[in-house]
Amino acid sequence: MSLGEAVVSGVYCAVMPSHESRLSAAAREMRFSAIRRMSALIERPGIISFAPGQPSPETFPVDAFRQILDEVVEKESAGAFQYILTRGLGTLLTAVGEYAAAKGIRSKPAELLLTEGSQQGLDLVSRVLVDPGDVVLVELPSYIGATSAFRASRARMTGVRLDEEGLDVADLRRRHRAEAAEGRRVKFLYVVPSFQNPSGISHSVARRRALLEAARELDLLVVEDDPYGDLYFEDDPRPTLKSMDEDSRVLYLSSFSKILAPGLRTAFLIGPEEIVAKIEIAKQSANLCGSGVDQRVILACLRRGLIEEQKARIRPYYRKKRDAMLAALEAEMPRGVRWTRPAGGLFVWVTLPEGMDAEKLIEAAVAEGVAYIPGGPFFVDGTGANTMRLTFAKEDIPTIQEGVKRLARAVKSQSSAGH
Ligand SMILES: Cc1ncc(COP(=O)(O)O)c(C=O)c1O
Repeated sequence: MSLGEAVVSGVYCAVMPSHESRLSAAAREMRFSAIRRMSALIERPGIISFAPGQPSPETFPVDAFRQILDEVVEKESAGAFQYILTRGLGTLLTAVGEYAAAKGIRSKPAELLLTEGSQQGLDLVSRVLVDPGDVVLVELPSYIGATSAFRASRARMTGVRLDEEGLDVADLRRRHRAEAAEGRRVKFLYVVPSFQNPSGISHSVARRRALLEAARELDLLVVEDDPYGDLYFEDDPRPTLKSMDEDSRVLYLSSFSKILAPGLRTAFLIGPEEIVAKIEIAKQSANLCGSGVDQRVILACLRRGLIEEQKARIRPYYRKKRDAMLAALEAEMPRGVRWTRPAGGLFVWVTLPEGMDAEKLIEAAVAEGVAYIPGGPFFVDGTGANTMRLTFAKEDIPTIQEGVKRLARAVKSQSSAGH
């Protein structure tokens, strides 16, 4: 209806201008992620959800937070609510440097910076390293939050194969060679080597070594994202790439979101000095600084040993849920369905028989009363239609068992319908 028609028909309505043409080229390509699109379905009452990528709120040490917050306000009064340095609160930077050193990552102060979640770290890394058209190598599948940050910088993403042992290093070399042969600049490789989101895969020590060796030969910067490394359920954790990094070619990100609580929005990155200096400038224009209140809470948690206590408490909590999900999959899933057996983290990755489509299966699954995230959007090369991500973090054990039963019924109904 035009403005004239609106007036003639007596309807009072203003004609809204179109803003589409004002958007930047990067914004025009932005899309809500598959996870956001799923939320309407997931939040329906009665749905068992294996979908969200969130830690369980049951693990958040709320009483300790309450006490710490009281103490922070009592001791520091208005000062706690002032702006802080862009790089982060000095005392917390020192404490985080020691925390990382205890995990085998030595750093100089100039190499360390605090961010509001690792997601901000990924966005800043992308802003300071990527020019439109630059190549970023990512795993197949890869974390959607990272690929969307790289896409916002108009990176060209190329996938590298991942198997149960980790990154296929021969494929990494091949992909790198192919991009270089086309005259394109590969800016970095992005990996989540421990209990990856979405697949739950953890790279073996041999693959970690091979990856670093290839990075050295190809003169490649490696961005290592490690929010789940401390959530291991079985053996001692495998060394981070950063702790094995001899020539400063790994930029490491880690976060307190999964160990303490994501609402504190505090994470850190450790990387080559020249890059971190630019990230600090980019961060200043992004948000001036992080939250001084959140950072003081994290500092108190580190000082009183709460973080190590939390890790010891939540590992068995998630391990039991992982065990329940794996046992239920074993009992319920029809032949031809495969899944990963993660030794940590929050996710199991399911592969349906070739030809089945996890996105199309959603309708049947929701009708059965269960939700998950289809795997396709985690693949930058358009493959993975027959995969899905399940989290065991949200639901309790009887609900996980019931949810897997429902999911298996949906899978069986679709396979008997000839996909
Ligand atoms: C692999 C990975 N990296 C980074 C993040 C971002 O976490 P945060 O911004 O809360 O630190 C997540 C969150 O789910 C993740 O799974």
